[in-house]
Amino acid sequence: MPKLISILNGPNLNLLGKRQPEIYGSETLADVEKACAALAGELGLATTFHQSNYEGGVVELIHAARETSAGVIINPAAYTHTSVAILDALNAFEGPVIEVHISNVHKRESFRHHSYVSLRADGVIAGLGTEGYLLALRRMKTLVG
Ligand code: DQA
Repeated sequence: MPKLISILNGPNLNLLGKRQPEIYGSETLADVEKACAALAGELGLATTFHQSNYEGGVVELIHAARETSAGVIINPAAYTHTSVAILDALNAFEGPVIEVHISNVHKRESFRHHSYVSLRADGVIAGLGTEGYLLALRRMKTLVG
């Protein structure tokens, strides 16, 4: 059985492709999901892909990953910068965690420079567009085998 990687997305990422395309690009979240599933297949991994606009929804997706998944790739979106609850949930997850941001948060407003999730993440990718999800998956392969 291929190892399962949970790919989790926070608020407003359902609007990817429509929302501020000059920052986030024109690919949709469905495009990203498809590309991740295809690469996972090549790597001998399996993926689940979810998005929630609610902080508690993201927490519950992380709890579900505890039962099912070898690793978590997460773009917590705006909750990156505010959510102790998401950090705590990730601290209760035992496998590797990679944080992904489509935009380069360090080039943007100063409130985006701090990440609670980075206190837990084994790696962080920012500013590489949606390709960041694919690079995170390749790293996951190294980490979970
Ligand atoms: C984001 C960056 C966050 O600061 C922002 O709130 C998002 C998306 C990114 O992928 O670049 O919604 O996580």
